[in-house]
Parts: sequence; C-alpha cells; structure tokens
Amino acid sequence: MRILVTGGAGFIGSHVVDAYLAAGHDVAVVDNLSTGLRENLNPAARFYEADVTDVDRMKEIVLAEKPDVVNHHAAQVNIRVSVANPVFDTHVNVVGTVAVLEAAARAGTKKFIFISSGGAVYGEAPVLPTPEDVPASPISHYGAAKLAGERYCHVYYVTTGMPYTILRYSNVYGPRQNPDGEAGVTAIFANKLLKGEQPVIFGDGSKTRDYVHVSDVAAANLIALERGDLGVFNIGTGRRITDQQVFEAIARVVGYQGSPIYDDFRPGEVMHSCLDWTRAQKILGWRPAVEFEEGVASVVEYNRHTCKSAGPGVL
Ligand SMILES: NC(=O)c1ccc[n+]([C@@H]2O[C@H](COP(=O)([O-])OP(=O)(O)OC[C@H]3O[C@@H](n4cnc5c(N)ncnc54)[C@H](O)[C@@H]3O)[C@@H](O)[C@H]2O)c1
Repeated sequence: MRILVTGGAGFIGSHVVDAYLAAGHDVAVVDNLSTGLRENLNPAARFYEADVTDVDRMKEIVLAEKPDVVNHHAAQVNIRVSVANPVFDTHVNVVGTVAVLEAAARAGTKKFIFISSGGAVYGEAPVLPTPEDVPASPISHYGAAKLAGERYCHVYYVTTGMPYTILRYSNVYGPRQNPDGEAGVTAIFANKLLKGEQPVIFGDGSKTRDYVHVSDVAAANLIALERGDLGVFNIGTGRRITDQQVFEAIARVVGYQGSPIYDDFRPGEVMHSCLDWTRAQKILGWRPAVEFEEGVASVVEYNRHTCKSAGPGVL
C-alpha cells in the first residue's frame, strides 16, 4: 500500500512509519519538525517538510503521492499549550485536520486514519475504564479540537465517501517520546531521575492515567489499514496507574532514592483517565501486549543513551 503519514517525525508517528515500512508498505511523511526530530525520520520513507495547515501545499503533496491511506498524526499535542493559546491549537488541530482531509479526499484516498485522544475527548468520564459509547465531554481546548477532528472525518465520509478509522489513544509512552508532549511524563521523569534531579508531581500523586506502550499503538495502526472502517476505537490498557506509581516505577529502574516535589494541580487536566479497549479487541483483533513495568524499562534505557535535555520535570 502507499501510505502518507503526517507527523511521521514525531514520537508515535515515527514508530508507525517504521511499522508500515517493516510490513512492506511504501511510506511518505509530512512534518514541519516543530516538535518532531529529523533523527526520528526513517530514511526509507520520502520526507516532505511542510505544514499541515497549508492547504495548497497539502493538496500538492497528496496529489503527487496518491496514497491509498492517509494516517494523520501531526498535531499540537500539549494540553497546557492548548489552554494557554487556544487559537493556535485550533489552527493546527482543527484547520490542519480539515486541510489534510480535504487534500486526501481530492486525491481519491481510500482510507483516512485519524488519531484522537481518549484521555482528552471523554473529559472527566462517568465510567472507568471508559468505553467509546460514553458521550465525549472534553474539558480542554485540545480535547475539543480532537473531537472536532473526529466529526470532520465523518463529514468527509458523508460528503465524499472517504472511509475513516479513529483511534483514541490513552497516554502513550516509549522510546523517542518528546518530554514536552501530552504524556511525556515517563520521558521527563526518566531524564530527571537519571540526572539525580527531583521531579515535580502536580497534585498529591493520586491522579491516574492509562499508559499504553508505543509498540502496541503502532500495531493498532497496522491493523487499521485493513479493518475498522467507520469505527472509533480506544487504544489503551484498562489499567489505572497513579502519578505516584509512575514515579516509583521509574525510580526503581533508575535506582533513585529521593522523593518528588508536590505542586498545585493544573487546569485542563482530568483527574482520572482509563480506556476500555474491548471494542478494539472484538473488531480489530488488537490487544495491548506490553506491561507498564516492562515498558518503563525501555524508556529509561532509551533516555540513558540519548540523555535528552529534560523538560520542567512535571507530572
Ligand atoms: N502522546 C500521547 O500520549 C498521545 C495521546 C493521545 C493522542 N496523541 C496524538 O498522537 C499524535 C502524535 O503525538 P506524539 O505524542 O507523537 O507527539 P509529537 O509532538 O512527537 O508528534 C507530533 C508531530 O507532528 C508534527 N507537527 C506538529 N504540528 C505540525 C504542523 N502544523 N504541520 C506538520 N507537522 C506538524 C510535529 O513536528 C511532530 O513530529 C498527535 O495527534 C497526538 O494528539 C498522543
């Protein structure tokens, strides 16, 4: 298959590109390298340095590539940035998504895979783990933009016949994660603790998240090439892990003896998030394979080698 991946220089997108290439597909990447890294680019993929909000350029690229599938990972991924600068977030995450959908539909793309966020679109969900049929109720601009992107996929299906699959990730972690991202906490903590620095937990450490390893996420993207048309799927583990447990798991691997600093809770972030992945198992035949304790070791190992400059060390 010919596949175009936006955001393919980013943390998750680059793993998806690697998985597609390893499966024998022909891959092109669009990325403006705003948070993505050139070193993440797989040399076997054609690379276009371009902004997804530039609709003319997107049409030019997608018409030249004529992909069977467009996989849209490019996004402004930081919830705090979305709260501080909602217009910018909307521009990248809504206008950018519509620009990529428009280009894909014009080029006769057979399928669109849209990456959404289960952690952001459900808001403070009434049911945990949360299934897909719980009404979306985002409490951040980022979550609202992701939900809008999902709706635009359906609008394009209705108006142009282009099928889509929506993957709602929980908190993704693993090698190559950008410490400034939506769920870069494992990377931030690994960096901080490897340097012997004290990390900050916002709140009392009881906030919970569902951590899914990037290799499991890449596997879901591979399956979505063939299955799940017109479906919305949670990609998570169903396991709630507290901030305190994240700190302790990484401290154990690193051998850090100290404690974290606790600071005020921040707006826009939900208290608990955990996804029910039953639908993905039933319809896609997908299931998460990597346990958090095992996956965290891969993050520490990666950061030990790259020793990226740590972010503010926040959770
Ligand atoms: N990391 C998570 O836990 C998580 C959870 C849910 C959903 N997601 C979604 O997964 C996708 C990938 O996120 P990530 O964590 O790999 O973050 P990332 O920042 O590593 O990747 C985003 C990529 O998009 C590129 N990009 C940003 N704006 C662009 C633009 N205007 N034009 C072209 N390229 C642009 C960046 O350079 C980067 O390479 C995003 O859509 C994000 O919302 C991530």
